[in-house]
Amino acid sequence: MNKNRQIVLASYVNDAALPENFALTEGPMPKPGKGEFLLRNMYFSMEPAIRGWVDGKANYLPPIPIGGVIRGPSVGQVITSHNKDFAEGDIVFALNQWEDYSVCHSDAILLKKLQPEADIPLSYYVGSLGGAGTTAYIGLHEVGLVKPGQTVVVSAAAGATGSMVGQIAKLCGCKVIGIVGSDTKAQLIIDQFGFDAAINYKTEDVTAAVIAIAPEGVDIYFDNVGGPVLNALLLAMNVYGRIVSCGMIADYNRTDNPNPITNLWEMVSRQLTMQGFLLPTYQDKVPAAMAQLEEWIRAGKITVLENITSGLASTPAAFCEMMSGKTVGKALVKVDWPVDD
Ligand SMILES: NC(=O)c1ccc[n+]([C@@H]2O[C@H](COP(=O)([O-])OP(=O)(O)OC[C@H]3O[C@@H](n4cnc5c(N)ncnc54)[C@H](OP(=O)(O)O)[C@@H]3O)[C@@H](O)[C@H]2O)c1
Repeated sequence: MNKNRQIVLASYVNDAALPENFALTEGPMPKPGKGEFLLRNMYFSMEPAIRGWVDGKANYLPPIPIGGVIRGPSVGQVITSHNKDFAEGDIVFALNQWEDYSVCHSDAILLKKLQPEADIPLSYYVGSLGGAGTTAYIGLHEVGLVKPGQTVVVSAAAGATGSMVGQIAKLCGCKVIGIVGSDTKAQLIIDQFGFDAAINYKTEDVTAAVIAIAPEGVDIYFDNVGGPVLNALLLAMNVYGRIVSCGMIADYNRTDNPNPITNLWEMVSRQLTMQGFLLPTYQDKVPAAMAQLEEWIRAGKITVLENITSGLASTPAAFCEMMSGKTVGKALVKVDWPVDD
């Protein structure tokens, strides 16, 4: 345990991320300083947000420099601690880095000491009980102001966040329509996640399809993609409808040339509310969200699908696969341990 394998940025990403934009290197074992603790990473969460940190441009977090270790959420175990709130053996979720060992401190973004339940797989705390599930729950409630009887549409509906949004909205008594990128995913979200209907945005006219399924109008659009799907949904919203702006993956590979949104007048004519959502702002809501999600998962009311890749060295490929739409459910990497490369 003298070495620390790390995935670093080899070249800035301009279009779709490729595994060769990343490189596996080896650094010395990091040492935690005063107030810090050392984590052995166990799972990495494959997050589209990472795409926004590898193109050399600033967004809500600074860009990762060439040679910098890739930042991403992980679940890990404390192996050494100089922090009174974290003891050896504790399991922790936080925004760390793609590496075997990360030094963490009390003000790490998304930091949460987990109390994993014995009957729930630890990997669930990365996705359905981690960033994806809590984003879905908190975004729907705090920004969407979800109520029984409403009609909810969610995009990237077969993915980590979208599949949770759809299932939570159903449990809240809503009619739920999912937008996905293939017929296979459309069938899957109805069969496995209990959506009322699905639309393939690659082959269907999204506005017409939504209006046909929901002539009553859409009360909440949980937007994970932005771009043409957002443009289409603006024409299907109810007066006073709410758009939860959670992600814009349709533009992540084209930040210099984002998709035009031509239907913005509908914000005025339908008196819509569109509000951006970032999970770190709502950390005080996470414990209650996790408790509710745990209860639903244990009761079999929520289905969890995971796409688990093994090995730290496979992390870049797993990330690129998730971004390209090849995965369903939560994409994550299980770190091989002890070091096997
Ligand atoms: N704001 C927050 O705090 C927060 C937290 C978590 C996630 N998010 C956002 O939520 C969204 C989903 O993230 P996730 O982790 O749950 O990923 P995910 O849905 O599991 O995977 C990404 C999915 O995006 C879809 N996609 C890819 N390119 C697209 C394009 N050009 N147009 C439309 N859809 C495209 C693909 O599904 P299809 O095959 O259906 O196209 C793909 O499966 C992302 O925008 C992410 O940034 C935000």
